[in-house]
Amino acid sequence: MAEAREITKDNILVIEDDELFLKTLINLLKKEGYEVYSARTGQEAIELAKKKCFDLLIADIRLTGGMDGLEVLKNIKDIYSHPNKMIVMTGYADDEAPIRAIRLGVNDYIYKPFRTEDFLHSVKRNLDTLRLEKQEKKFIEDAKEMRKELEEYNTQLENLVKEKTDDLTLLFEVGREITSSLRLDEVLATIVERILDVLGLEICSIILLDENKDELFIAAAKGLSQDIIAQTRIKIGEKISGWVFESKEALLVEDIEKDTRFAKGNEERYYTGSFISVPLIFKGRAIGVINVNNKRSREIFNKDDLRLVLCIADQASIAIENARLYSNLEGVYLQIVSALTSIIELKDHYTKGHSDRVTKYAMVIAEAMGLSPSQVEIIRLSCQLHDLGKIGIQEYILTKPAKLTEEEWEEIKLHPLKGVEILRPLAFLKDEIKLVEQHHERYDGKGYPYGLHADSIDIRARIMAVADSFDAMTTERPYARGLTLFEAKEELIRNSGSQFDPKIVEVFINLLDKNPDLFKKS
Ligand SMILES: [Fe+2]
Repeated sequence: MAEAREITKDNILVIEDDELFLKTLINLLKKEGYEVYSARTGQEAIELAKKKCFDLLIADIRLTGGMDGLEVLKNIKDIYSHPNKMIVMTGYADDEAPIRAIRLGVNDYIYKPFRTEDFLHSVKRNLDTLRLEKQEKKFIEDAKEMRKELEEYNTQLENLVKEKTDDLTLLFEVGREITSSLRLDEVLATIVERILDVLGLEICSIILLDENKDELFIAAAKGLSQDIIAQTRIKIGEKISGWVFESKEALLVEDIEKDTRFAKGNEERYYTGSFISVPLIFKGRAIGVINVNNKRSREIFNKDDLRLVLCIADQASIAIENARLYSNLEGVYLQIVSALTSIIELKDHYTKGHSDRVTKYAMVIAEAMGLSPSQVEIIRLSCQLHDLGKIGIQEYILTKPAKLTEEEWEEIKLHPLKGVEILRPLAFLKDEIKLVEQHHERYDGKGYPYGLHADSIDIRARIMAVADSFDAMTTERPYARGLTLFEAKEELIRNSGSQFDPKIVEVFINLLDKNPDLFKKS
């Protein structure tokens, strides 16, 4: 049974000027099922070949009409761009013809008279070969096509993997940045900045719930005016943010004017009409909303953008809640610290207000020296805590109205380490613990508890040492009067470079000169 692709018959052009012989050949070939065409002259054959593509050309070498069979075949070969087969017939011995036939690429050379079966065998063999060659060519082309498709598929796959890897890397980095701080304002600012960067935006805002008023406010934003940030208040369920907060559903809107939910009466600012609004959810509870608007490219937002914002929102919710938790912890902790310092001051009433004054002096010195607000904050807490270890010192030593014995003095010198022991479980106060530990170290290495020297003492502890000593020397004691401001400054200068860091003394003296009220005891 013939295969489907063989339904089209092989077609043959026979070029022969002997009419009787031509007819015989046509009949023979038709009987075999071939589609046969004929030409009696070379010109007639060339005209036919221009119109139709023949699988097999059978030509007599000697033809009437000017061209011989080989010239005709050469002309036709020049016309065709596809493979075909050629058989030439001759009844004459000719030395040149076989060579010309080989050069032309003729596939078979038949001498007349020939046996019918030999002729048909040659025709069949050439057409079979042609078919195989065509199949092979098609197979190679198909294979090339498949390879091309496979390469395209691989490229798409590689791009997809790269895209996903880039997304993951980006989210990992964003997550790490967002969670690198425990200060709520820093966390919110980082979230806004990173979303702006990642999506190439002009506007991003974080809306949080004001639990006291049960309404939403803008907690952090970029691209909005200060007036809008300060004045915006949104009821839960109202406007876009209120709707997203209440429904806990993310919104991707391509054109707000065509969105029946928000087209009317919306006062939020979306001047390109396309925006994303996603809820911040922590443990199933809505805590806020992230709004993103206005791509710098002016493109509308798509599902990939939404996916990214949702991923960032997941991490942002955790970071925001952690920061709030930390803030609450800090509040509780500060109350405890305040209570503890009161206890010390109760034990040693001569030192009443000492911690607050040391805090005041150390903070102004730190600010004048250009330390960052977060460093100043660490100094503030450390000053409040610096003598906490005195809780562990016997009360009679702290309140002794006379000079201390050597043994009593040795016990007093234990208070920085006792303070460290009390604070050690509070790992988040790592820096503060270090400063409490070092606040009695001296610049010349003669301090305690370790005898650290100059730069090996933390600069913040060196500031605290100046502030602490200044307050001690200006405070009245039962066994010694307090120094005046002038005397205290002289004392600081006299000990500059030995007990104190000279740079810090210089800064503090300048501050006291410019603002003597700093010394006023409150
Ligand atoms: Fe102390």
